[in-house]
Amino acid sequence: MLKLATIICLFLLGSTVPLLAAGQNARPHIDRNSLPYGCGTCHVGFDFNSGGGSEGCVSCHGKSRPPREFVDSNAVLRDLESEFKKRYRHPTFDVRGVHKANEVLPEQNPRASRHADCVDCHNPHLTTQTNVFAGIKGKRVGNSVTEIVNEYDLCYLCHGDSLNLPGRATNKRAEFSVNNPSFHPVEGEGKNLAVISLLKPYREKKTDPGDVSVISCRDCHGSESSTSPRGPHGSANQYILVENFSTRDREPESATAYALCYRCHNRTSILGDESFRFHSQHIKGKVTVGMNNGTSCYTCHNSHGSVDAKYLIRFNRDIVSASSSGLLKFTEKGTSAFRGECYLTCHGVDHNPKSY
Ligand code: HEC
Ligand code: HEC
Ligand code: HEC
Ligand code: HEC
Ligand code: HEC
Ligand code: HEC
Ligand code: HEC
Repeated sequence: MLKLATIICLFLLGSTVPLLAAGQNARPHIDRNSLPYGCGTCHVGFDFNSGGGSEGCVSCHGKSRPPREFVDSNAVLRDLESEFKKRYRHPTFDVRGVHKANEVLPEQNPRASRHADCVDCHNPHLTTQTNVFAGIKGKRVGNSVTEIVNEYDLCYLCHGDSLNLPGRATNKRAEFSVNNPSFHPVEGEGKNLAVISLLKPYREKKTDPGDVSVISCRDCHGSESSTSPRGPHGSANQYILVENFSTRDREPESATAYALCYRCHNRTSILGDESFRFHSQHIKGKVTVGMNNGTSCYTCHNSHGSVDAKYLIRFNRDIVSASSSGLLKFTEKGTSAFRGECYLTCHGVDHNPKSY
C-alpha cells in the first residue's frame, strides 16, 4: 500500500516536474518508457531519503548492464564505474555517507568533510541527455536559489567560496573572474589581444564563425580518453586532466611534459620565443652537472587566472623566492610589446630585476 506521504510526494514531483515528451529533452529517470518500474526502481520500498546513493547509480551506469526488465532496451548506458577506478578521480566512492539531500553549497562549515556524490552534480529526477546538470541548485541570491546553467557554476559550488577547501587549493571563482588582469577565457573572452602562440580554431576574440574564444573547464579537465563518457569523473592524468601536464621543476621539456598547453598553444611558437624572449631558455634549461635545470610553465603561470598580474603570471613559491632587495614581482613594459621585468630569485639566480 502506498503511504500518504508517498502519494503527496508523487503529486508534488508530478506537478513541479511535468514529464516532457520523449527524445533528448526527456527526463529518463522519471519516464516509464525508459525505466518501466518508475520511482520504485531507485526508491525500493519507497524510501525517499535515499535513492541508493552513488552505488545505485552504477548499478545501471556501470561495467555491466542491469537486468533487462529494469531499463528500456534501446537506452545507451555508458560505463561510469571504470572512470572512478582511475588513479585521479572525484572522490565519489572514496568518501561515502557525507552528502545530505538538503545541504546548501558552497559549504559554510570549515570542518565539513569534502565529498562529491553523483547527485551533487546530477539531479536524479531532472537530468536530461542534453543538460546533465538540470535541476542542480546553484548559489543563493537573496531569498532565491539560482539554477546551474554554466558548467563553471557547478564547479564553483565546491571549488569556489567553500570554507572547507583543502589546504593548498585556491578559489577558482576568484581566479577566473573577468575583472582580473588575466585569466583563461572561461567566463568570457580574455583581455590579451596578442596571444601569438594560439593554434586554430582558438582566437583572442571571435571574429569568424569558426573561431573559439571562450573555453570551459571540460577543455582541460576530463578523461584522458576521448572515447570515455563526457565529464570530469576520472583520468589517468594528474588533476583529472585530459592531457598530461607536469608541474615539476627540473623537468626535461617534451611534447608530452606540457601536452595540455600544446593542445592550444603552438609548441614551436613558445620554444621559438615569439612572446617571452627567454621562454626556451627557462623551459628547456641546460644540463649542468648531469641535472636538467629547465622548469615547468607552472613555475611562472597559473593555469586558471592571475588576480594580480598579466599573462597568467603567478610564481610557484615552492621554487621562486624574493630577490636580493626583497621583491617578488613581474611588471610589463608597454602593452603587447613583449617586454617586461622580473624581481625574484630562482635556481640561485638573483633577478633584481632582469628585463626582456
Ligand atoms: C534513478 C533513480 C531515481 C528515480 C527513478 C527516482 N528517484 Fe527520487 N531520489 C533519488 C535519489 C538518489 C535521491 C536522493 C537525492 C539527494 O540525496 O540529493 C532521491 C530523492 C527523492 C526525494 C527526496 C527529496 C529530494 O528531491 O531530494 C523524493 C521526494 C523523491 N526522490 C521522489 C521520487 C519520485 C516521486 C520518483 C518517481 C517519479 C523518483 N523519486 C524517482 C533517485 C531516484
Ligand atoms: C535503473 C537504471 C538507472 C539508474 C539506477 C540510474 N540511471 Fe541514469 N539513466 C538511465 C537511463 C535508462 C538513462 C537514459 C539513457 C538513454 O536514454 O540512452 C539515464 C540517463 C542518465 C543521465 C543523462 C545522460 C545520459 O547518458 O543520457 C545522467 C546524467 C544519469 N543518468 C545519471 C544518473 C545518476 C546520477 C544516477 C543515480 C542517482 C542514475 N543515473 C541512476 C538509467 C539509470
Ligand atoms: C559537490 C562538490 C564538487 C563539485 C560540484 C565539483 N567538485 Fe571537483 N572535487 C571535489 C572534491 C571533494 C575533490 C577532492 C579534492 C578536494 O577536496 O578538493 C575534487 C577534486 C577535483 C579535482 C582534482 C583536484 C586535485 O587536487 O587533484 C579537479 C580537477 C576537479 N575536482 C574539478 C572539478 C570540475 C571541473 C568541476 C565542475 C565540472 C567540479 N570539480 C565540481 C568536489 C566537487
Ligand atoms: C583549450 C585551449 C587552451 C589550453 C588547453 C590552454 N590554453 Fe592558454 N589560452 C587559451 C586561449 C583561448 C587564450 C586567449 C585568452 C586571451 O585572449 O586573453 C589563452 C591565453 C593564455 C595565456 C595569456 C593570457 C593573458 O591574459 O595574457 C597564457 C600565459 C596561457 N594561455 C598559458 C597556458 C598554459 C601554461 C597552458 C597549459 C597549462 C594553457 N595555456 C592551456 C586557450 C588554451
Ligand atoms: C586551460 C586549462 C584549464 C582550464 C580551462 C581549467 N583548468 Fe583546472 N587545472 C588545470 C591545470 C593544468 C591544473 C594543474 C595545475 C594547477 O594546479 O594549476 C588544474 C588544477 C585544477 C584543480 C586542482 C588544484 C587546486 O587548486 O585545487 C582544480 C580543483 C581545478 N583545476 C578546477 C578547475 C575548474 C573548476 C575549472 C573551470 C571553472 C578549471 N579548473 C578550468 C588546467 C585548467
Ligand atoms: C563533480 C561533478 C560530477 C560528479 C561527482 C559526477 N558527474 Fe557525471 N558528469 C559531470 C559533468 C560535468 C558531465 C559532462 C558535461 C558535459 O561535458 O557536457 C557529466 C556527464 C555524465 C554523464 C553523461 C556521459 C555521456 O558521455 O553522455 C553521465 C551518464 C554521468 N555523468 C553519470 C554520473 C554518475 C553515474 C556519477 C556517479 C557515479 C557521476 N556522473 C558523477 C559531473 C559529475
Ligand atoms: C620563466 C617564466 C616562464 C615560464 C617557465 C613559462 N613562461 Fe610563458 N610567459 C612568461 C612571460 C614573462 C610571458 C609574458 C611575455 C610578454 O611580455 O608578452 C609569457 C607569456 C606566455 C604566453 C602568452 C603569449 C604567447 O606566447 O602566446 C603563453 C601562451 C605562454 N607564456 C605559455 C607558456 C607555456 C605553455 C609554458 C610551458 C611550456 C610557459 N609559458 C613557460 C614566462 C614564462
